[in-house]
Amino acid sequence: MKNKLRVLLTGGCGYIGSHTAVELMRVGHEVVIADNLANSCMSVLPRIEELGGKKVAFYNIDVCDSEKLDSLFSVEHIDAVIHFAGLKCVPESVEKPVLYYRNNLTSTMNLLETMIKHGVNHIVFSSSATVYGESDIMPLREDMPTGNCTNPYGMTKHMSEVIIRDTAKANKSIGAVLLRYFNPIGADESGRIGEDPLGIPNNLLPYVAQFATGRREKLFVNGNDYPTEDGTCVRDFIHVTDLAIAHIKALDFIVGKSGCEVFNVGTGNGYSVLQVIEAFSEACGKELKYEFAPRRAGDIPTCYADPGKAEKLLGWKAERDIRKMCEDTWRWQSNNPMGYEK
Ligand code: WQD
Repeated sequence: MKNKLRVLLTGGCGYIGSHTAVELMRVGHEVVIADNLANSCMSVLPRIEELGGKKVAFYNIDVCDSEKLDSLFSVEHIDAVIHFAGLKCVPESVEKPVLYYRNNLTSTMNLLETMIKHGVNHIVFSSSATVYGESDIMPLREDMPTGNCTNPYGMTKHMSEVIIRDTAKANKSIGAVLLRYFNPIGADESGRIGEDPLGIPNNLLPYVAQFATGRREKLFVNGNDYPTEDGTCVRDFIHVTDLAIAHIKALDFIVGKSGCEVFNVGTGNGYSVLQVIEAFSEACGKELKYEFAPRRAGDIPTCYADPGKAEKLLGWKAERDIRKMCEDTWRWQSNNPMGYEK
């Protein structure tokens, strides 16, 4: 770590935010969290503090509320911001596009305006590989075209990237890093924090983990006729702790600099849905019986990163393999079968 920073995490109680909070504290940074608990809960806070070994300053606010955000910046000395807060359910974004555009863009714009007003110059933004849309060329590189997204959620990530890049262009003191996440899975090694989606999980790993505990009755594999080796979709799964550490490297990189840089955050390896189910089955010691079901609308066959730029400029590389991702997910899920106490 270069300097000790006081970092504001919007959405810091969520899955990726909570793991990043812990890793920041583990290397000596201080954490302030702003979260409206729309898709998270208060009971993660004591666990973040337990793992990070420090108190967290917590504000139950919506980043879309500019007055409350302004008050937070008036009372807290913030050195840098990591912006995780946002709605992230792809099918919901197709049904309620205006909700997604209003929420995810208002929060980004409020945050930038408030940062500029209070002289806070550094931001790391939680973007997504979904900004690449349906590319036929793999691995995905940062200089490939973006913005041809298949759903409004993806568009909000793309549009937030544009807004942040333009803001950094216009304000020469601003330094921004856009991190394009691939498929984050896994949990802190302690098994104390992890992914706890509301309702039936949309994403593969939380669903498989809940199926393995018996909380879900059936496991469906969506599509077995994709042009991949085993016919199921291939994704670049990345351990959430590796992803959290990438944020620390991004801060190290950008603090004291201006401009805007974008990085893929993936392992560079693709695993198919069936390979992941197999790895999870080994981790939990149970056979996981699945059924094939029709393709899910909007799924692309294959998606994986070229993570070379992050290695070169941030000195970051994913270290945890698929086995570790599944073992850690299982430790979290089996120790907390119903997630956090609500
Ligand atoms: C992976 C594969 C499914 C559930 C999504 C968002 C992306 C990003 C991460 C988040 C697909 C298949 C799934 C199940 C299945 N953003 N599957 N059975 O779609 O790559 O990415 O999450 O905030 O923007 O689009 O990840 O985990 O949903 O699906 O067979 O019960 O698993 O069809 O092929 P995806 P996923």
